[in-house]
Amino acid sequence: MKHKIIISPSILSADFACLGNEIKQVESAGCDWIHVDVMDGHFVPNLTIGPSVIKSIRKRTKLLLDVHLMIEEPGDWIVDYVKAGADLITVHVEACNDVRQTLDQIRQGGKKPGLSLRPKTSADEIKPFLKYVDLVLVMTVEPGFGGQKFMPEPIEKIRVLRREGFEGRISVDGGINAETAELALDAGADVLVAGNAIFGSSDRKAAVQSLVAR
Ligand code: DX5
Ligand code: ZN
Repeated sequence: MKHKIIISPSILSADFACLGNEIKQVESAGCDWIHVDVMDGHFVPNLTIGPSVIKSIRKRTKLLLDVHLMIEEPGDWIVDYVKAGADLITVHVEACNDVRQTLDQIRQGGKKPGLSLRPKTSADEIKPFLKYVDLVLVMTVEPGFGGQKFMPEPIEKIRVLRREGFEGRISVDGGINAETAELALDAGADVLVAGNAIFGSSDRKAAVQSLVAR
């Protein structure tokens, strides 16, 4: 099954002092979703935003809010992200005590569950949970910071998941630009998360178009 290619700009590289405008700009540049990176200073060294900022973003856009939780024991926080207005909530397989239960919490909250894995985590770790998720997010940098260099090795995991018959969405996150997007799409990804490539460009529309121009 072929899905439409989705562009999900990561607001981690946006100007947080004018986040509302930044979101409007990527919306008019043709982006489909908004990728929100939540970091807790424990699962990853960096610290970003939480539910209150997501609640504010929710009021500014109707685009799907693609929330990437890079936090320890995300199960403790699902209710808050559901209430804040996230649409798709992705948790890390490495961060959950009980992966299945966390995914169920998201589904029971009426939201789409996603599961992510660090670049060095094997695809085998997520295989038992594929039937419970709408999306797998394959990290192509170590989670924690925007603007890092793309790692090509994790791309093989996308091929493995497609070969195993996974029909949900596969998102790729970290160092995505026109060149690396092509590698990910060829392997079977259908969601491109891009921070620096979009928010770092003065022409956001051209940046978005370059990601899918093949
Ligand atoms: C990294 C985040 C990514 C990151 C992407 O931990 O999950 O979403 O912000 O930014 P770029 O595209 O700049 O690598
Ligand atoms: Zn992310």
